[in-house]
Amino acid sequence: MKVTYSDLKNKRVFISGGGSGIGATIVEYFCEQKSEVYFIDIDLKSSNKLIKKIEKKGFRVPKFIECNILDVKKLQNIIKDIISKNGAIHCLINSAANDDRHTTEQVDEKYWENRMGINLKHYFFAAQAVVKGMKKIKSGSIVNLSSVSWVLGEGDKVVYETAKSAVVGLTRSFAQEFGKYNIRTNSVIPGSIATERQIKHWLTPKYKKLILDSQAIKRQLKPDDVASLVLFLSSDQSSGCTKQSFVVDGGIT
Ligand SMILES: NC(=O)c1ccc[n+]([C@@H]2O[C@H](COP(=O)([O-])OP(=O)(O)OC[C@H]3O[C@@H](n4cnc5c(N)ncnc54)[C@H](O)[C@@H]3O)[C@@H](O)[C@H]2O)c1
Repeated sequence: MKVTYSDLKNKRVFISGGGSGIGATIVEYFCEQKSEVYFIDIDLKSSNKLIKKIEKKGFRVPKFIECNILDVKKLQNIIKDIISKNGAIHCLINSAANDDRHTTEQVDEKYWENRMGINLKHYFFAAQAVVKGMKKIKSGSIVNLSSVSWVLGEGDKVVYETAKSAVVGLTRSFAQEFGKYNIRTNSVIPGSIATERQIKHWLTPKYKKLILDSQAIKRQLKPDDVASLVLFLSSDQSSGCTKQSFVVDGGIT
């Protein structure tokens, strides 16, 4: 990371899905800024590995709390507990998601509810839990991770894409409702980002070639490309930006 945002030092940051992938890089970036970072995830192994990595780098160590984001009550209690013990959360980064492939035919009601729970519902309830504190301090930044998949209409994960498009609507609605308290809300829309999971499941040489042929920029994007944008949107350097979607896709759309 090359930039220091002095205002992010000691800022209280809550990140969902911070154990691996883009979320983990976001955790690391905030820790390097000396922010007070809390992250949740279901993946204990990756989360503990990340903490060790951050300790080794000498960055401020984050606090990890195990939580399945489908458990909205637990998620909100964790956030309320952080606020009551430490004070308002300044930045909320909603990142936890799951992009498992499925056809329309394969979706039943149970799967629909589960995908909406993992890819959309917790965004709303995490925000609901942080805004009370943000209103009191008249400041806050919420960053919601969406995806270009719904813009492209990739057609191999319809419920995920539906949820990710709704993230943009949610962002715009929150931005309007909370703008008068100086709470900013923005979406980040990544393209193809080479995370461990993407490399393992989807980024075959053939798919990678298709991505690079379609992008304006001819390099595979990495979690750092997204984390640096999230950091900017969280810092006061973007104090005039709200209600917007910021695309980081190498020009694929
Ligand atoms: N990687 C990409 O190419 C890409 C592209 C577009 C959008 N995005 C978006 O960026 C964000 C991060 O994606 P990523 O690729 O890093 O994903 P990832 O799958 O690599 O990481 C997601 C993290 O969320 C956690 N998680 C999943 N289900 C959970 C649950 N039920 N409870 C708690 N934690 C849970 C996982 O354990 C993991 O640590 C997501 O919102 C995703 O939709 C990613």
